[in-house]
Amino acid sequence: MTIADLKPEHVEQLVALFQRLPDSDLTFIKEDVSPAAVTRWIDAPGWRWVDLAEDGSVIGYAALRAQTGWSDHVGDLRLVVDPAARGRGVGRALTLHALGHALRSGLLKVVVELPAEQTRTIDMFLGLGFTGEALLRDHFRDRTGQLRDLVMLAHFAEQTYEAMDLVGVADALEEGL
Ligand SMILES: CC(C)(COP(=O)(O)OP(=O)(O)OC[C@H]1O[C@@H](n2cnc3c(N)ncnc32)[C@H](O)[C@@H]1OP(=O)(O)O)[C@@H](O)C(=O)NCCC(=O)NCCS
Repeated sequence: MTIADLKPEHVEQLVALFQRLPDSDLTFIKEDVSPAAVTRWIDAPGWRWVDLAEDGSVIGYAALRAQTGWSDHVGDLRLVVDPAARGRGVGRALTLHALGHALRSGLLKVVVELPAEQTRTIDMFLGLGFTGEALLRDHFRDRTGQLRDLVMLAHFAEQTYEAMDLVGVADALEEGL
């Protein structure tokens, strides 16, 4: 696995990843994932990374974007991993990469939103130092129109490096990831 900044040469494989995803996973990307739109992301505000398999295919994607105005110290994190590559640490590695970048960029807080019933995913973020921020009831509609609860988790930069050492963030920073 290699994490790289999103570049024009990754667009085709990234679009192929999105095409392999079920609709339920695409809900949380929140953006247009057509080839034309993905090409525009290269120069768009924010940071985007891909995780590359040895054959050059894209098996993971993460995006971090600072909010605006009074909340420009807060970054929104989104990520998705190829269903066939889950459970191998790709999601955790992308999250650490994005957190390291957020801290070096001066963001004070990173938030992520996900369906409340995705308990395994919530556990992954809690294990990386995120904490529960909000439960938003009936906050989004899934593809069948069903109202569902959303959880917001947050990671605060002020957390001690001692705590971050435990989950590998400090190592990621030192390696300049
Ligand atoms: C959430 C997601 C990115 C995790 O990616 P991943 O590469 O499977 O995660 P990792 O392999 O790093 O797993 C980390 C932990 O997450 C847990 N996990 C969460 N979802 C999992 C899944 N579908 N399959 C396997 N493990 C999963 C595992 O228990 C693992 O913990 P462990 O190593 O202690 O067993 C991936 O399931 C995904 O793309 N989901 C859909 C999109 C989404 O919900 N994004 C998050 C909000 S934007």
